[in-house]
Amino acid sequence: MKIAVINGPNLNMLGIREPEIYGKLTLEDINKKISELCVKYGFSAQFYQSNIEGELINYIHSLNKKINYAVFNPGAYTHTSAALYDAIKSVDYPVIEIHLSNIHSRKESFRQKLLTTGACLGQISGFGYNSYLAAIEIIRLRSANE
Ligand code: DQA
Repeated sequence: MKIAVINGPNLNMLGIREPEIYGKLTLEDINKKISELCVKYGFSAQFYQSNIEGELINYIHSLNKKINYAVFNPGAYTHTSAALYDAIKSVDYPVIEIHLSNIHSRKESFRQKLLTTGACLGQISGFGYNSYLAAIEIIRLRSANE
């Protein structure tokens, strides 16, 4: 099972950025936890982060026919990017969208608009770094049922 873990804008600032919302772990810490879980299940994981919409689109395209799943936190592009919606729709692998915070209970009204989510297999939101690990667990459950 080949998995890509993709993080969008400002997620390189985890650990520093609003820790009361996003937690104290850095992206490197979280990726280490994901790696450990993937090793346990015999999955291979590759990691990518960009603050730039076009780079995320290019990376998503580059994985077509190369991976089984992507786990994607699009950050604020979730709420704005029709181009990322189209990129996810363009590729042959399913994408699981994840968010550290529960975007549905956040106060800013712009967070209630979800563009990328509709192109994804499903969304996990609100469990901190465990949102990423839950996506890996879902991939394991789905692969066991195949
Ligand atoms: C986020 C939620 C988004 O609304 C926000 O813009 C982020 C992080 C999350 O993981 O909770 O950058 O994707």
